[in-house]
Amino acid sequence: MKPAYYVTTPIYYVNAEPHIGHTYTTVLADVFARIHQAMGQDTFFLTGTDEHGEKIARAAAAVGKTPQGYVDDVSREFRTVWHALGLSPDRFIRTTDPEHVKVVTSILQKVHDQGDIYFGEYEGLYCVGCERFLTEKELVEGLCPDHKTAPERVKEGNYFFRMSKFQQWLIDYIHDNPDFIRPERYRNEVLSTLKDDIGDLSISRPKKRLSWGIPLPFDPDHVCYVWFDALINYLTGIGYPDEDRFRRYWDEAEHLIAKDILKPHGIYWPTMLKAAGIPPYKHLTVHGYWKTVEGKISKSLMSGKLRNMVAPLPLFEKYGPDAVRYYLMADMTLGLDAQFTEDNIVTRINSDLANDLGNLLSRLVNMVKSAYDSRIPEPYDDSMGNPLKEQAERLHATVIEHIDHVRLHQAIWEVMQLVRRINRYIEETAPFKLWKFDKSRAGGVLYNALESLRIAAVFLHPIMPNKMSALLQQLGWHIDGSPLWIEQSKWGMLQSGLPIELGSHLFPRIEAQAVEESPPPVAASQRPTEEGTMITFQEFQKMDLRVADILSAERVPDTKNLVKMEISIGEDKRVIVAGIAQKYLPENLVGRQVVVVANLAPAKIRGIDSNGMLLAAVDGDDLALVVLDKPCRPGTKVH
Ligand code: MSP
Repeated sequence: MKPAYYVTTPIYYVNAEPHIGHTYTTVLADVFARIHQAMGQDTFFLTGTDEHGEKIARAAAAVGKTPQGYVDDVSREFRTVWHALGLSPDRFIRTTDPEHVKVVTSILQKVHDQGDIYFGEYEGLYCVGCERFLTEKELVEGLCPDHKTAPERVKEGNYFFRMSKFQQWLIDYIHDNPDFIRPERYRNEVLSTLKDDIGDLSISRPKKRLSWGIPLPFDPDHVCYVWFDALINYLTGIGYPDEDRFRRYWDEAEHLIAKDILKPHGIYWPTMLKAAGIPPYKHLTVHGYWKTVEGKISKSLMSGKLRNMVAPLPLFEKYGPDAVRYYLMADMTLGLDAQFTEDNIVTRINSDLANDLGNLLSRLVNMVKSAYDSRIPEPYDDSMGNPLKEQAERLHATVIEHIDHVRLHQAIWEVMQLVRRINRYIEETAPFKLWKFDKSRAGGVLYNALESLRIAAVFLHPIMPNKMSALLQQLGWHIDGSPLWIEQSKWGMLQSGLPIELGSHLFPRIEAQAVEESPPPVAASQRPTEEGTMITFQEFQKMDLRVADILSAERVPDTKNLVKMEISIGEDKRVIVAGIAQKYLPENLVGRQVVVVANLAPAKIRGIDSNGMLLAAVDGDDLALVVLDKPCRPGTKVH
């Protein structure tokens, strides 16, 4: 039996309404849960709200509400927004839930009883925004680097958790379990913090100063520190200690967080678990920040002019939930920061979804309608091989490999490469011409294209569940819940003879005026320069650069400068035309390795379809091909 899968988001502070930053982590958890369901696993998805502590008490007072009334309102707001966005966690936990209060109380008591909580005097620099003491080393020019505020000096009697006792254990555990904290840069960050003495953790506040918290069972004059309380939600959420769910899911827990809360999750939490005699979670998966031109997307933008852009509901209403989900998942390399602009959303929608995916579906269905009576044609046994089948069959292993290493954007990219390959295949084979003299063969071409598109949609289903269900339905393929990848991505499942029908446009193109209201997409310093335009790393990644072998080359008749070449990019053989004949003799090109842009839209040059472009340095009339400094496997990616 496959292991279960348990995914969590941070529980969000209720001092702010949800914005697109919170939305990203919650969508990511939803996508991961769906992916693991598609991999045949029993999954549990937890999110919720963090409702105790000084920050919340102050926010409630600022609007003249009682803490309880205030947290009830904002927590409801989170639930409403997640529901409206179609995100359905298996449980929405609140730290004010009586069941949670009970679990926190019992863990405090247990750790206290075994002597790992003691009373002491503490003086330190407290950041209310972070709800934790900061070390001098963490400050930047005396300010908290995240909140840009000066921490408050606090001196008081506190209870302490003997965190330092577990420091060496944690270092060893991280070394023994390379996948515990990922991507690697965050594992290294935690290990580097652990090089210094981490000290003990103050885990209480005197009630006379702060009453909004869970009372310590062994001293009712103190309440529990908010992080000690909040982290335990991950246990309460699955029924710790007695429920079956706890036993089923805990060993498979994956916590998703952004880098802002790495220290509490990477250091406090595992040592707390160790002290409580509970095994550590399986993975801590850390992502970067979504940023706008003004910096990290945060609460402050929700009251400013960018509100409509960073509030999830207006955005999801404007572009549709599935398109925004796709953008968020495809545009962020997990672990790195990403630039959030409405222009980038529109680019993704227009190029990937409307053009590559939506148009392909309508072209294929329309072709089947005009020549095959709207019924899926028969496959055709083609001795020329079937490049789509080979690529589609490789996809399962490739996607799983990327998912295992939390490279979600890469997995999406591979699926979209299949979609782009189908588009090229249709250009190359031109079934709309072929069927005039070989209807079976053209039918086979369409079968291959439809079947590959079906497989791509099965893999994209966790990202865009509604749109991909609609796409599959147009191909006569009905799914109930998440498709099981291993079964439903097998080649040849599409049934010939079944009727297919074009439904409504899946991804209408967004016209420029729809985004007119948006703020400028890039900072003035990043606007086009004389030399060209600044692009983001994500934009650069859209370019598919590959190593190619030149198999044959000949001058294009009646031209001075054009060479027609057959190249191989791995198993993919293509024709390209390049203007290099004045510098290179065709016969000297054969056998050379070059670098090509493999995903350039095909172009007709002197009547020849050219599928790609060679890279060369061009200086006036002079020209030099970009080559490699040692031989590589054709098809190797160039980054
Ligand atoms: N309450 C704590 C978490 C306790 S978990 C036991 C907290 N809450 S928070 O409301 O500040 O949420 C922080 C989290 O929101 C980040 O770790 C991330 O998941 C998400 N994000 C908030 N802003 C974000 C961006 N600008 N970009 C990406 N994620 C963002 O910390």
